[in-house]
Amino acid sequence: MTKRVVLAYSGGLDTSVAVRWMIEEWGVEVACVLVNVGQDGDSSENLADIKRRAMAAGAIDCVLVDARDEMAEEFCAPAIFANARYEGKYPLVSALSRPVIVRHLVDQARKFDAQAVAHGCTGKGNDQVRFEVGTHALAPDLEVLAPARNWGMTRADSVDYAEKWDIPIKATKEKIYSIDENLWGRAIECGAMEDPWVAPPDEPYTLTRVTNLEPVEMTVSFRGGLPVAVDGRESSLGDLIQELNSRAGATGFGRLDMVENRRVGIKSREVYECPAALAIIAAHADLEDLVLERDLHHEKARLESRWSELVYDGMWFSPLKEALDAFMADTQRHVTGDVRVRFEAPGLMRIVGRRSPVALYDYGLATYDAADTFRHADSEGFVKIYGLGVKTWAARQGAKNATPPAS
Ligand code: ARG
Repeated sequence: MTKRVVLAYSGGLDTSVAVRWMIEEWGVEVACVLVNVGQDGDSSENLADIKRRAMAAGAIDCVLVDARDEMAEEFCAPAIFANARYEGKYPLVSALSRPVIVRHLVDQARKFDAQAVAHGCTGKGNDQVRFEVGTHALAPDLEVLAPARNWGMTRADSVDYAEKWDIPIKATKEKIYSIDENLWGRAIECGAMEDPWVAPPDEPYTLTRVTNLEPVEMTVSFRGGLPVAVDGRESSLGDLIQELNSRAGATGFGRLDMVENRRVGIKSREVYECPAALAIIAAHADLEDLVLERDLHHEKARLESRWSELVYDGMWFSPLKEALDAFMADTQRHVTGDVRVRFEAPGLMRIVGRRSPVALYDYGLATYDAADTFRHADSEGFVKIYGLGVKTWAARQGAKNATPPAS
């Protein structure tokens, strides 16, 4: 029986070539699945073209899946809970979309009665890790194939290969940038930016071109840890993300330029534009400052970076990540309130106010004016006992830290 493979198809050069190459070299049948995670604003016309390309390459079918709301509600939402930013910066744009795609790949593999799934990643990146570890977490019986790790073709070879097989691709032999995008933002690498000293050119950015020089102020309302309204208008998380991408992006906010540590041991320079992700996380974290109890807040901060690392490393469907999700979700029960966010071109964002019906900020305790309700005398005993150990130690040492060492 001919082996059947379900390929995560993007419509680009590599995955189009992968269809034909797997048929020719491995003698398999290939079904494609194209998962829409918000990679394209004006999708419909485009998706039909992409499907035609897959069929021209020799696929037995090409299934289109609209996973935009799923991406927002099941993948961006937990990332908001965790204020997720890998290495303190990158909001995990690509890392969040891969488990969405994996879920549909496995689902389609079952529908097509396939024995394997495949992806178009090379051996140098994080995405191969995310596809393979993710697939095995959901379907330990499925094989994962990575034709681009085997074929040894350069980009120019792939273009020739597509021409030879009459696969209608738009790609040219020189491609300057490698771009991955979805609802949560865009990741851009290659070109002149492969030298980390070179300033990123303006050209590849699309979400963060300045078209509005006026300051923009908005109120983002959160309920149970998730943004639910902008300026009082409620919308789905997916729509709210899109609105922020366009309104914040128009003031130039949302760019990142970083050198990051890939899972496979390579340092890479990548630039990102993610206006909605960065604004939502900043507003959410600010609201948490107001409503989370101190110990819980500090412990959460430690676990946030672990959560981000796990997701970056392809461990979305892992027991530790799931356990951390339960912790994060529990912390979000009281993260309800409003945050005032101000954007100023080019690219500046500030949080200028926050309020919550469950704020732990207490005016009577915080104020220095006559409304002060804090019992100052209580502090005397507290501070004495708190510092007692250090005081005892210092007495034994002869207070040696009091005088600077003689030079
Ligand atoms: N470095 C990012 C990550 O590993 C993005 C990867 C895809 N980037 C790209 N420009 N194709 O999540």
